[in-house]
Amino acid sequence: PSPARLAHAESLFAVTPDFPEPGVLFQDISPVLADPAALRTIAEGLLAPFAGSFDMVAGIEARGFTLAGMIAALTGTGFMPIRKAGKLPAPAGRVEYTLEYGTAVIEAPDVLQPQHRVLIVDDVLATGGTLAATRELIGQLDCEVAGAAVVLEIQALGGRKLCGEVHALFQS
Ligand code: PRP
Repeated sequence: PSPARLAHAESLFAVTPDFPEPGVLFQDISPVLADPAALRTIAEGLLAPFAGSFDMVAGIEARGFTLAGMIAALTGTGFMPIRKAGKLPAPAGRVEYTLEYGTAVIEAPDVLQPQHRVLIVDDVLATGGTLAATRELIGQLDCEVAGAAVVLEIQALGGRKLCGEVHALFQS
């Protein structure tokens, strides 16, 4: 997408200081998704560096689902959800990872074949824990990660150190 299209999409984030707790600058992607031109811009921008190198798009619950589904439809590839614990009756893989307080679990449905090259998509990169765990989960299922793409990287949290190479459309 052109710089003008990207700037339009970026201008639509709704920024709220001190939510959900004091000191946190909350960036809501909802107005970006609600704008037809911006929605297309971010889907195209996320996939651009990886075009032709993936055949499955993994979206991370919950806001990653929308973006990953769009990219799959635009590129003629498949979609798979990376789910939070307890949503799948028979997950093919499971990874537990550390949060600031406590732990979280993500699970994958049994849809990957060994030849799949997987593009991982999410809305926001914060600490990088979720993305790092998703990479591990796809590796556990013997598939190659073609790349990882997020709409917004919160640079101050240093997530890139934990999760490895990631294409971020916007940074804050
Ligand atoms: C957010 C975001 C990412 C994750 C990033 O999801 O959508 O998935 O946090 O955080 P990390 O880099 O620190 O791991 P959230 O937990 O808010 O879930 P939701 O999308 O279901 O609301």
